Amino acid sequence: MTDRSFKTNILVTGGAGYVGSVVAEGLLSRGYRVTVVDNLQQGHREAVLPGVELIVGDIRDEAFIDNVFGRYDIDAVVHMAADSIVERSMADPRECFINNVGGGMNLLNGMLKHGVPDIVFSSSAAVYGEPRGIPIDEDHPCDPVNTYGDSKYMFERILSRYGMAYGIKHASLRYFNAAGASDRLGEDHRPETHLIPNVLQSAIDRARVTVYGNDYPTDDGSCIRDYVHVGDIAQAHVLTLEKLGDLSGRAYNLGSGKGCSVLGVIEAARRITGVDIPIDIAPRRAGDPAILVASCELAKKEIGWGPEFDRIDDIIESAWRWKREHPAGYGD
Ligand code: UFG
Repeated sequence: MTDRSFKTNILVTGGAGYVGSVVAEGLLSRGYRVTVVDNLQQGHREAVLPGVELIVGDIRDEAFIDNVFGRYDIDAVVHMAADSIVERSMADPRECFINNVGGGMNLLNGMLKHGVPDIVFSSSAAVYGEPRGIPIDEDHPCDPVNTYGDSKYMFERILSRYGMAYGIKHASLRYFNAAGASDRLGEDHRPETHLIPNVLQSAIDRARVTVYGNDYPTDDGSCIRDYVHVGDIAQAHVLTLEKLGDLSGRAYNLGSGKGCSVLGVIEAARRITGVDIPIDIAPRRAGDPAILVASCELAKKEIGWGPEFDRIDDIIESAWRWKREHPAGYGD
């Protein structure tokens, strides 16, 4: 294993957000010092655990980033800060590119200026676009169908060029559908657009869940996704960071390798919560592919990573535990 004394202080951008906070937790429990940069637009102060240093600021602000690298002794970066709502990226591509590409470049330029060599980047299954076969492996062409996916793919390309020209060591982790919760940290987006938190919210307040489409070419007619536990995603970041010397320049899928339909998620949530969650069937949501399921063989082989949670019930169960403790999210 890599000698961690060389990598003691990890900067996690977006580390007050859903996935970022759990990644920070994973790094902390592994003995790293963790410094979080977050503008708290989507992130929550309460999601930053004791022992993690939070610096409130924006990666779009070049002077702020320069100051962070100048003042804190950063050894490596996990870059997760981004606009991640697909619909918003389509309505407002300018903001999406400024945040996800422009902000990311500020970060890279700060790393170069201050001699920080290593970065692990949160990418997305959205880089693949409409799948040409299932499961999707990393050789699948990258042909994003939305601005969000474009922005993630552009940054992967920028990393590749910076790697070649300046020797930045980098790996990109393309997650499928992040889900579930750790004991202390869970999902609280405002507004919430994701399926599992919406379904669990309905188990609390009996609001009807909208199912976007039941006429897809799947067994039950609803979309199939690959839900991967947020704790497993965190573990993948830690391992990738520790093996970055061998993995540099690579991109890996993070999924469970199993698909579950929207109606399947709702059935599982009914079983787990004991609530007969009410649904409405609505037309398809624009830009939703019928099926997205990852092949995670490459991550297994090269990172030595595999999901611990591969049953949808266990993933939903963890999210439900957190939701019951935080019925209105953070700040309760
Ligand atoms: N869905 C509903 N009702 C809801 C919310 C979602 O039916 O209230 C459906 C969607 O139509 C989709 C599935 O549930 O078929 C999952 O939707 P999510 O919004 O939870 O997640 P997405 O698959 O749209 O997107 C997620 C991330 C993206 C990322 C993508 C990669 O939010 O950032 O996974 O696979 F790009």
